[in-house]
Amino acid sequence: MTATPASKVLASKVLDRVLVLEMVRVTEAAAIAASKLIGRGDEKAADHAAVEAMRAALNELAMDGTVVIGEGERDEAPMLFIGEKVGTGTGAKIDIALDPLEGTTITAKAGPNALAVLAIAEHGCLLNAPDVYMDKLAVGPGYPAGVIDLAKSPTENVAAVAAAKGCMPQELIVCVLDRPRHAELIAELRGIGCGIQLIPDGDVAGVIATTNEDTNVDIYMGSGGAPEGVLAAAALRCVGGQFKGRLLFRNDDERARARKWGIADLNKIYDLEELAKGDCIFAATGVTDGSLLEGVKRLRKGCMTTESVVMRASSGTVRWIKSEHRKVL
Ligand code: FBP
Repeated sequence: MTATPASKVLASKVLDRVLVLEMVRVTEAAAIAASKLIGRGDEKAADHAAVEAMRAALNELAMDGTVVIGEGERDEAPMLFIGEKVGTGTGAKIDIALDPLEGTTITAKAGPNALAVLAIAEHGCLLNAPDVYMDKLAVGPGYPAGVIDLAKSPTENVAAVAAAKGCMPQELIVCVLDRPRHAELIAELRGIGCGIQLIPDGDVAGVIATTNEDTNVDIYMGSGGAPEGVLAAAALRCVGGQFKGRLLFRNDDERARARKWGIADLNKIYDLEELAKGDCIFAATGVTDGSLLEGVKRLRKGCMTTESVVMRASSGTVRWIKSEHRKVL
């Protein structure tokens, strides 16, 4: 299936093109900091290192940034909390969704696909998703609009994607987070006979995998963090693809949190453009090796390499950036 470009989006005057490369500096800084804790069995320390580094890098930038998706609410996150102002406060008004370390457990265990991630957009363009679960359904570019539908069963969605791809449902691969809560979904997919790629963590990379034919992943299904859903949606806005998300609430406290962030319809199924609208920039740097990016590599004499991707919705440009970070002697 050939990739189709992301739908036409007007370039935002607020998102200066210089910011595209600046965002990579920010995710690089977080990835390098977290990489020092790869395989050390300490999720919190790895996350903390990434958060500190990302915050310091953001605060260097000439912008009036507000974290709309971050490490949590002010009372539970000392840094990069929702509502925190970042940047010098002098430039454009920008909303930021970030996950300095997407895959804390992966990093602690030296597993694959840990990333430092962020997305930026004009003020008001990213859904202020509360930290609850989200049911997610995604496919990459090249499919007719509406091919996936969260109101339909996994079987119906697999059948629709297979018909659009021109293959049997059994030939598709569905990526799913390996969690007990997905037992029913996995049993249904096994019943169809399609392949399942079970990932231990990191569903931002899981969703983005649907956009890359080399991964063989056709569909992403299942629940994961809502903030990660917005980040993945921002990436799909840039490269094309379809994404549906519905917030999932486990208790009244979570429902109250959602209402606090202005979400009135708790059963709403969100489309890509409702999660991340208008022009946006998505950037990620690999912490550990994965399907999307290589992880941080430590070479001799303190030299390191990083691999990052940065994309912009209005231009559809996707830049793969391999950087060498040399120790100044
Ligand atoms: P962290 O980096 O916060 O550990 O998140 C990893 C992750 O796998 C996300 O990619 C995913 O959305 C979420 O956790 C799933 O949550 P849970 O582990 O509770 O199933």
